[in-house]
Amino acid sequence: MKKIAVVGTGYVGLVTGTCFAETGNQVVCVDIDEQKVEKMRNGFVPIYEPHLDVLFERNIKANRLSFTTSLEEGIEDAEIIFLALPTPPGEDGSADLSYILGVADELGKLIKEYKVIVDKSTVPVGTAEKVHAAVQANAKVDFDIVSNPEFLREGFAVDDFLKPDRVVIGTSSERAEKVMEQLYKPFVRQGNPIIFMDEKSAELTKYAANSFLATKITFMNEIANFCEKVGADVDKVRIGIGSDTRIGKRFLFPGIGYGGSCFPKDVQALVKSGREENFEFEILNAVMAINEQQKTVLLPKIKNFFRGNLKGKRIGMWGLAFKPDTDDIREAPALYMIEALLKEGAQIKAYDPEAMENVKSQIGDVISYEANEYDALKEVDALIICTEWGIFRNPDFGKMKENMKDAVIFDGRNLFDIEEMTSKGFYYNSIGRKTIEK
Ligand code: UDX
Repeated sequence: MKKIAVVGTGYVGLVTGTCFAETGNQVVCVDIDEQKVEKMRNGFVPIYEPHLDVLFERNIKANRLSFTTSLEEGIEDAEIIFLALPTPPGEDGSADLSYILGVADELGKLIKEYKVIVDKSTVPVGTAEKVHAAVQANAKVDFDIVSNPEFLREGFAVDDFLKPDRVVIGTSSERAEKVMEQLYKPFVRQGNPIIFMDEKSAELTKYAANSFLATKITFMNEIANFCEKVGADVDKVRIGIGSDTRIGKRFLFPGIGYGGSCFPKDVQALVKSGREENFEFEILNAVMAINEQQKTVLLPKIKNFFRGNLKGKRIGMWGLAFKPDTDDIREAPALYMIEALLKEGAQIKAYDPEAMENVKSQIGDVISYEANEYDALKEVDALIICTEWGIFRNPDFGKMKENMKDAVIFDGRNLFDIEEMTSKGFYYNSIGRKTIEK
């Protein structure tokens, strides 16, 4: 059992704190937002993440998970202090470290005995050094800094945390290395590695992993776009190349671009870090440009179908979140589609199982928010699928056709079989595959 403080109860902090409590540690989460802390004390989970609520409640009840607004109180007994603070992109795309360095500065004044201070946030190479200097400026006792990036996927965060493929620990201190090894041992019992390295390599590992995955997706998006030109089927190509273990089957699904809180931000931040060292990431520049275009790759197809005029066309939209099983709409391709369609004069009837409130608070009533997936189809000229929620995968096609004015689907996530859709009487246009004309 370890005593742990987690500073910052955003997505990463909450999952980290709750999962450490679930494995028997004593965890105090610290956040400056009083209202949020009060709500969490009453068992309210401020984010949507499958399975988190159950763990949250169980650990609060067992007195292993508690909350405070006081940094001093939160870290007093903790041997390990996790920093899970936001690193939003500044205007120039570089990560803003002011939250992290602000807390580091405070910690220097507050710590009264040896602590391991862990960067959990995604931070540019060299941040551990800066955090060390900020704590050191006021510290009267020993401490160590560790870089321990997270690789959680939204929607699978609890599972990813409890059963990680690997744990990356960046530190130059043997003492901190031992503490972190003890902490993470229960999570890698199946034999997955805890990989120890220096702080800078750990920091770069996170950016390199996300940038690589974003590149993999973008590569497939380009292949998909080319498939359409030459009449090949990207699904076949995907399976064909993915069976090579050097390539692997995962993250090869083409679509309407990657979004979310990590890939766009991290790719941009790595490019920016490169420029600070007079280093240009040519591949990542291309990845960013292609992804930007990909978010609205359906638009020319839709315009073409409606002979260039979308004025007054009613469009149903399935999915608003940047991916399924989350209410997160950060950099969601659906938002780019909405903007583009509204500009063309179309009307949008949208449905998303979780993300509608977030969209409404961001863009208001410029689109209509429907009660379910079939209401979003009433009298529409076409349906656009932006997110591959499970519920959209096996719909009642008869009911869909009854509701739609015209059985026309533009699928940005390749949910259905082309021949099957055509035989059911749909015009079905997807990504990187043939469209059989009616
Ligand atoms: C990602 C990383 O996977 C995770 O390790 C890191 O810690 C945070 O960033 P997340 O943003 O939650 O996680 O989502 P992920 O499931 O990785 O998907 C990211 C985006 O890529 C989504 O927009 C998704 O639709 C898109 N994607 C993913 C594809 O377009 N094709 C794929 O094959 C996979």
